[in-house]
Amino acid sequence: MSDMNERRGVPEGWDRSGLAPWTYLNDELAEIEKDKLFRRHWQLACHVSNLPERGSYITFDMAGERAIVMRGEDGQVRAFHNLCRHRGSRVLDKKRGVCKKVMICPFHGWGYNLDGTLRSPSAPESLPKLDSVEHGLKPIELDIWMGFVFLRFLPGDQPRISELLARHEEEVTPYNAEEMVPVYGGFWRQEMAVNWKAVRDVDNEGYHVPMAHPGLQDLYGKNYYDEPIVNGTNRSFAELTESPSHLWSVRHYKKILPDFPNLPASSKRAWLYIGIFPNTVISFYPESAAFYQEFPLASGRTVQRGATYRYAEESRAMRLSRYLSERIDKLTTEEDTQLIKWTCEAMESSAFDGIILSDREYGVRAYHDKLRELLPVMAMPEAPAPGTVATVNARLSEERADAAE
Ligand code: FES
Ligand SMILES: [Fe+2]
Repeated sequence: MSDMNERRGVPEGWDRSGLAPWTYLNDELAEIEKDKLFRRHWQLACHVSNLPERGSYITFDMAGERAIVMRGEDGQVRAFHNLCRHRGSRVLDKKRGVCKKVMICPFHGWGYNLDGTLRSPSAPESLPKLDSVEHGLKPIELDIWMGFVFLRFLPGDQPRISELLARHEEEVTPYNAEEMVPVYGGFWRQEMAVNWKAVRDVDNEGYHVPMAHPGLQDLYGKNYYDEPIVNGTNRSFAELTESPSHLWSVRHYKKILPDFPNLPASSKRAWLYIGIFPNTVISFYPESAAFYQEFPLASGRTVQRGATYRYAEESRAMRLSRYLSERIDKLTTEEDTQLIKWTCEAMESSAFDGIILSDREYGVRAYHDKLRELLPVMAMPEAPAPGTVATVNARLSEERADAAE
């Protein structure tokens, strides 16, 4: 094992193949993924600074679920299903806003307090007496880490998000992310005609950086490394190189990036990425923090969403650095989007007979292993017969549980 492999935790003689193509093309599997992965794992909805005042809210749709994240009159952040208890309408339909005192459903006008309890139905004399808690908006489990607000729509095996991310706390604390503020009011969002796993596959390795991302290559080049997923989180890190860059934005970023007294020497000129299974990455740059994530709409339709946060007080050099790093990232995203499309198209080609992963792509394999562990049907080389994917997956899960006993 080379030193490099040791650092990346790559075992000897590992299986270099990928998931079977059908897993990227099957709508039945996409529904199982929504249920078992997306609804049962923590999802990053926003940052506390997206909810600056009492009554500030954002709405967040994900894998068939609809949430409201609201700062109550007591200042506490809570999350509810955006689902009126009368007939299921959305209660709040804007992406974000401020709600004074009461949320009014746009269908028949039922009113909810900012803590989610039912205030009053309209024409209450036409209804039986309704309990304000029992008929309030259904709460969603919520946890906050470094100012980032996470939701979990259904119970799952992950510990609290603060416990899950505890191993990154020492490294991340100096960034002071709780105190950061949004760069733009809301969130960027793009819909892509690809399977969500293809987005992860490109994101889970740095092998493509020298070829596909000339900007990043100039920025940190061979200093970049990925650590494979451990207990549902992974870390990638890159110190900036001091070599000159061909790219205007990278050249100026390296020159302008000021000293950050809050950061230890190892983080002052480095980019850090924390991945959270199954679909979220939070990045910490000296001058900003950001997140991005993706959700399936169907097997071939994916939403990518994210936001950037900055220090509340910024010098001109900090602001300029942030502008430049955003430019670098925008270019990277465009480059990745093209690669994601091509790898997805390949799955439908008659000539496609799988992939061969390099040691530098071990993160892709480690991630697939985690998927196969949770959804054993994904280990099958061919798709089960139509209409049976969920039952086959349930049977394989049971068999495995029995074998483990
Ligand atoms: S659905 Fe909300 S008031 Fe009727
Ligand atoms: Fe990339």
